[in-house]
Amino acid sequence: VLIDNIGLLVTNDPDAGSGDLGERVGAAVAIDEAGTVAWIGAAGSAPEATSGGRIDAGGRCVIPGFVDAHTHLVFAGDRAGEFTARLQGRPYEAGGIRSTVDATRKASGADLLARTRHLAREALRAGTTTLEVKSGYGLTVADERKQLRVANAVEAPSLPRVVPTFLGAHVVPWEYEGRADDYVALVTGEMLDACAPLAAGCDVFCERGAFNADQARAVLAAGRQRGLDVRIHANQLETGPGAAIAAELEAASADHLTHVTDADIDGLATAGVVATLLPAAELCTRSPHAPAGRLLDAGATVALATDCNPGTSYTTSMPFVIALACLGMDMTPADALAAATVGGARALRRDDVGRLKPGLRGDLVVLDAPHYVHLAYRPGVLLTHAVVKDGHLAFTAGGGPGGEKSA
Ligand code: NIG
Ligand code: FE
Repeated sequence: VLIDNIGLLVTNDPDAGSGDLGERVGAAVAIDEAGTVAWIGAAGSAPEATSGGRIDAGGRCVIPGFVDAHTHLVFAGDRAGEFTARLQGRPYEAGGIRSTVDATRKASGADLLARTRHLAREALRAGTTTLEVKSGYGLTVADERKQLRVANAVEAPSLPRVVPTFLGAHVVPWEYEGRADDYVALVTGEMLDACAPLAAGCDVFCERGAFNADQARAVLAAGRQRGLDVRIHANQLETGPGAAIAAELEAASADHLTHVTDADIDGLATAGVVATLLPAAELCTRSPHAPAGRLLDAGATVALATDCNPGTSYTTSMPFVIALACLGMDMTPADALAAATVGGARALRRDDVGRLKPGLRGDLVVLDAPHYVHLAYRPGVLLTHAVVKDGHLAFTAGGGPGGEKSA
């Protein structure tokens, strides 16, 4: 497929264009039958006609597909009641997770798959082509496996590719109340044995009310021993040991980082841990925002993600997260776009997505806008004109192949 007549193309490849985003004015991208970017050049100058058709971008801006590196997409039920109570002043507590655990345990695999596909379709339509999906609402060997099987089954040509993460250590389930160490022994033993083959990463919620520093270290060590990338929910509700553990273990990412010290920031930057920031969770729990500017100034790689989950952040929209990052965290539109694409790819340790370059995945979004600044400038507006994943037209706003509606 050839995407031609691109007004402004963001490649995230500084060698291919101007600035850190490798921007090119008046461009075209060809994607081969294997779904790989084959060629990038000037508009109207493609080397040969392509059999897979031509998409006329009509002068619009084209960006790499978003890489949403932190979601809890597999769950049943919702927590609108808890949300309403928070609007009336109740604080967010980690314990709310257990009500979603109850609903998710009761749901069948087929029901969970249908719900997860629905959310994945939402994400795709907003421009997400790679999606990390965590377990963590099962908390038994069988139920964690059920969630991961669903995560692995979601992907389809018109849905985002999924990177599954094991989060058996999300909270201590009620049946282990007062016996957290026994639950950690289950997670690091039998549960990881059963779940590691279905996952690429291992995560832990290190927070008061969830898992302490020693328990978090044990979970991540056991995950790493089974070949999983390690990541950590760190410093979400208060300052704590999570960010320092991420640095000590050279984790792939430390996520949330709402309450971090300067020493935490330096440690993450020095250790090369990606700081995955989740401003929609902060908005919906009325928390302060993570210090994106200080992290960037310290030289850390920043990713932006939705944290989509029924408790703290029930959104699948990366454009909404970019708008929040610019308007609430003072990130520049260019830094926010990089964080939502190549930053997310780094958090997932994937070098085949998040950039547009020959040899990498043919994942891109044709924005219904002349410039990516519009992602922040037009908050809450669906700005996707078309989404291409692996060279396949997965969504188009105006109907046509893969379209969700016709004009
Ligand atoms: O990332 N912090 C832990 N996990 C989720 C919340 C999950 C829930 O409340 O159901 C988060 O915010
Ligand atoms: Fe989370």
